Amino acid sequence: MSLFIDTAFGKNGNKAAIWMMRQAGRYLPEYLAIKEKSNFWEMCRTPALAAEVSLQPVKRFDVDATILFQDIMTPLPSMGIKIDFSPGPVIESPLRSQTAIDKLLKPKKEEIAPFVAEAIKLIRKESKTPLIGFGGAPLTLATYLIQGSGSKDYAEFRQFLRYAPQQAHKLLDKLTDLSIDYLSMQIEAGAQAIQLFDSWAGIHSSAIYSEFAKPYNERIFKALGKYQIPRLYIAVDALHLYSEINQLSAEVISIDWRVPIDKVRPLLPTKVIQGNLDPAVLLASEKLIAKEAQDVLISGLGGTHIFNLGHGIMRQSDPEKAKYLVDFVKNFDRDKARQELGLINV
Ligand code: CP3
Repeated sequence: MSLFIDTAFGKNGNKAAIWMMRQAGRYLPEYLAIKEKSNFWEMCRTPALAAEVSLQPVKRFDVDATILFQDIMTPLPSMGIKIDFSPGPVIESPLRSQTAIDKLLKPKKEEIAPFVAEAIKLIRKESKTPLIGFGGAPLTLATYLIQGSGSKDYAEFRQFLRYAPQQAHKLLDKLTDLSIDYLSMQIEAGAQAIQLFDSWAGIHSSAIYSEFAKPYNERIFKALGKYQIPRLYIAVDALHLYSEINQLSAEVISIDWRVPIDKVRPLLPTKVIQGNLDPAVLLASEKLIAKEAQDVLISGLGGTHIFNLGHGIMRQSDPEKAKYLVDFVKNFDRDKARQELGLINV
């Protein structure tokens, strides 16, 4: 029994579960201390370091879930792709031709990123907090692979989808096969939930999303269905996509801060909502953190709610403020708030 897993499966209880996207990372001095002696890939690929960094925020805060420390790029070198971080991913040779896509390797499941299974086992041994595994959604992985790095408008990628749709589908299909194996491996090693990050889906029209994202995302969620663990999905700035996203078989949809939960719920009527405090609020005073967190909690009272940030925690955030937020959410009594607001029969 755990608050996070129960809530992800739809239990609409008295407490909102809480964890924070990117809760392991550069805002924590203990992360920076390890980073000083190592580099990002080394941290990902050394199970003891990846496990330690995953658990750093769980030791500091009373969060209800651990998220595995890796990157969405982690499984891609097993296809023969060279990637650096600076600090975002940089692809040595962006994939912009049929030949480049055809040449991608098809690794066996146990070859994809064996160090991840080891890190997961270490985390499970050391901590009872439920562990979320994760991966990048095929469209978001393809965004980096074709564009080559982060970008303001992803012009090359959006052009590629128009000029070479068949090649794009071929790449997305390969990334979907890889993701199914990679995420299944995480679950078999001990991950107790999976979140698929579709960080760049929101830049596209709903027509592009339904052709190039939805069928691949759904193929992954269907394949993971047999494990009977909660499946979470996030697309950022994606209000215009929620009617498509609602049709995915993920149990939980994570939403960003742009629209309040009570306005989004009717668009995702059967889903557990995760979100959606603006991460920038952690740069403000405790008084403002309390106010905005309370607004989010009240907005979430109409259904099942996992409290989270609307996107990753910012590097400039003060860990003490993050602690204040977690404690504030843990102390919030949803039943009492419903009563006070006259929402008891909602
Ligand atoms: O605590 C956690 O949430 C687990 C760790 C995690 C990382 N990356 C570690 C990381 C997770 C869940 C990710 C996912 C990820 N990576 C996404 C999806 C989530 C999102 O933000 O939309 C994306 C788009 C990436 C790609 C990526 N990797 C970017 C854009 C960057 C650089 C900028 C940034 O936000 O940090 C990275 C590098 C990266 N991944 C770092 C960390 C801790 C920073 C590396 C460093 O220490 O310098």
